[in-house]
Amino acid sequence: MAEASVYERVLDPASRANPFPLYAELRKTPVRREADGTYVVSTYHEITALLHDPRVSTDPRSRPELGGALPVPEDGPPGLPLPFINRDPPVHDQLRELAMRPFGPPCTPGRIDGMRPWLTDITTGLIDSFAGKHRIDIVEDFAYPLPVIAICQILGVPREDQPRFSHWADALIAAVDPTTGTFEERQRRRERVNGDLGQYLNGLADAHARQPGDDLISGLLTETGPQGPMSREDLLSTSALLLVAGHETTVNLITRGMLTLLRHPDVLDRLRREPGLTTPLVEELLRYEPPVHILPNRTTLADIDVADTTIPEGSPLALMLAAGNRDPGRFPDPDRFDPDRTDNAHLGFGSGIHYCFGAPLARTEAQVALPELARRLVNPRLVADPPPYRPNPVLGGPRHLLVDLETVAPAERAVRTSPGVSP
Ligand code: HEM
Repeated sequence: MAEASVYERVLDPASRANPFPLYAELRKTPVRREADGTYVVSTYHEITALLHDPRVSTDPRSRPELGGALPVPEDGPPGLPLPFINRDPPVHDQLRELAMRPFGPPCTPGRIDGMRPWLTDITTGLIDSFAGKHRIDIVEDFAYPLPVIAICQILGVPREDQPRFSHWADALIAAVDPTTGTFEERQRRRERVNGDLGQYLNGLADAHARQPGDDLISGLLTETGPQGPMSREDLLSTSALLLVAGHETTVNLITRGMLTLLRHPDVLDRLRREPGLTTPLVEELLRYEPPVHILPNRTTLADIDVADTTIPEGSPLALMLAAGNRDPGRFPDPDRFDPDRTDNAHLGFGSGIHYCFGAPLARTEAQVALPELARRLVNPRLVADPPPYRPNPVLGGPRHLLVDLETVAPAERAVRTSPGVSP
């Protein structure tokens, strides 16, 4: 049998806890062709160039093996139309603009910042529930519930439905993992989950149409851009996208963040004392320990020359964001975790037209959560280093992060009941 390529070793679950030495290996050849025809791109400037290149598509129908159409689910309801993360311009831009209207600037600039006090209350409540425990799991007890509560609150998903939607989100995230079947099989699985999720969201949209609230689904139902409002089908796939994209990614930013802080007690200690450290610290985490390691779903629409290689039209790309973030050609001393870094245009949220839509929310959640954990967990210690990891090489992180602590310090509390929105 042929020896496994460096990329195949990256995909191997055994590499999950520390794939960074393999990324350094990959960067020696910035653009590599794999046996299956995938081009693996691992250096910062080359990744960025491709993310900004209009000849690169995120639409799965651009893959030659799908022949221009999406697979139809074998059973269950029909899938939703592709969400805008999987659409190219001009449809991508139209849908993203409509989705942004009720979410952020320029139409609703205060929504995310207005959530800060409410997010602080949710964080405080979750940390209060550690009282009396000497061992907690940062994933189960904190990092998982917080983003789910937040995104459900924004969209207007009732609390009692959250476990159902978490199940769908997990299934959709598994469908981007290139180690779980062929591209076509994964698209088929995705379509099936999307069908179920679409039915659920359709019922929710009906309820919001009857009784509109201050939530995003109500906003999407009424917002009108230059091309008119979003169709019901696009509204459902946009809502599904936001539910899923804002879920495991943020869980992993908080979990990887705590892991990194516990490995760097000097920084943890500074975070307790220096509120000004929070913003650059979260940016450095997005560079050093990003939740999204690979963008595996792009296809070239033409022959493209990059780093002395011509990538032929119709080739799948694997853009190694986490390798680009540690590229010494872009970041001095890249393997050092340095929250005082000033030049930090990391790829943690991607780049170009698909730059993360939810970045302001993800940043706010991490900026609220990490200093509170740092301040209130007294004498926290990692139980296992490395902790056990989820197998997904694309986006993921620790499955559990057990931490021993002496006690929980009291909260500095100001009680609020609902997220304020100040448009
Ligand atoms: C730490 C948390 C997060 C990380 C690391 C992250 C990372 C990313 C990355 C790397 C992309 C680019 C994907 C690509 O180019 O194919 C992306 C896109 C996206 N993210 Fe996030 N994300 C996070 C949180 C969120 C949240 C909270 C939401 C929803 C509120 C969200 C919604 C989206 C959407 C809708 C896109 C697609 C944008 C487009 O196609 O124009 N993300 N995210």
